[in-house]
Amino acid sequence: MDFAGKQVLITGASRGIGFATAKEFLVRGARVAVNGRTKQSVATAITELDGGDRLVAAPGNIGTVDGCESAVKTAIAGLGGLDVLVNNAGISIDSTIEKSDETIWDETLDINLKGTFFCARAALPALRESGGAIVNLASVAGLQGSVEGAVYSASKGGVVNLTRALAMELAPDIRVNCVCPGWVDTDMLRRDYVDLADDPAAAEREAIEEAPLKRVATPEEIARAIAYLASHDARFITGVALPIDGGISAGF
Ligand SMILES: NC(=O)c1ccc[n+]([C@@H]2O[C@H](COP(=O)([O-])OP(=O)(O)OC[C@H]3O[C@@H](n4cnc5c(N)ncnc54)[C@H](O)[C@@H]3O)[C@@H](O)[C@H]2O)c1
Repeated sequence: MDFAGKQVLITGASRGIGFATAKEFLVRGARVAVNGRTKQSVATAITELDGGDRLVAAPGNIGTVDGCESAVKTAIAGLGGLDVLVNNAGISIDSTIEKSDETIWDETLDINLKGTFFCARAALPALRESGGAIVNLASVAGLQGSVEGAVYSASKGGVVNLTRALAMELAPDIRVNCVCPGWVDTDMLRRDYVDLADDPAAAEREAIEEAPLKRVATPEEIARAIAYLASHDARFITGVALPIDGGISAGF
């Protein structure tokens, strides 16, 4: 997977899977635009990534249409074009059905689902020109339901089918795929352990036990699959939802 000379925008790249994905593309030769909600979070990530002039700051709140458009515009201007868009920014608010109010719905859908759509829409002219690719972050929660995850599951199920719809409409110019991680060792998962259970250590053991492969993923393992789907090696793949979940979605 060689990305030398390629230009990549990753939303929500200030930490976790997005940060690992920025590293992955950087190591493989790409120029990378780093998005995060604030200028400060982007600046910190860029310092840590240490990629010199191959890194471009593209801050913007992906939960608003203006934020999506501004981040994509800044990225394309700084990079000089766009070959790959990774729609990674996302939030997960665990909540029972009774406690899932309109604020939780709006915030989750604005970032996870509408943000994915509006970043893709803003990037279309540049991606058409390059014959580029989009990779979206869905989740196993987009393929199956979970307790206290109704809103998140709905948003990620939306991302899975949005991926298919975009793939249909944008073929043959632009390929669009998504990855469906199971548990991944990031801040999001660590917050889940604390939010979901009285005993976070027990919640962690359960997450490890849930996967047939008996561990959670590293962010780097998700990053590598994202890079693969964006790469020339995946040139005949579009519209797929790829589970990277240690077997969770295979059955029970
Ligand atoms: N960690 C997991 O177990 C897991 C599993 C399946 C899917 N995912 C998905 O992978 C993606 C990355 O998750 P993560 O685990 O790295 O989470 P994380 O919380 O560690 O990082 C999320 C990133 O998104 C950014 N972000 C959030 N809201 C934003 C906004 N409005 N504008 C710009 N940036 C914003 C955050 O600043 C951060 O950089 C998400 O879409 C998440 O739903 C995570």
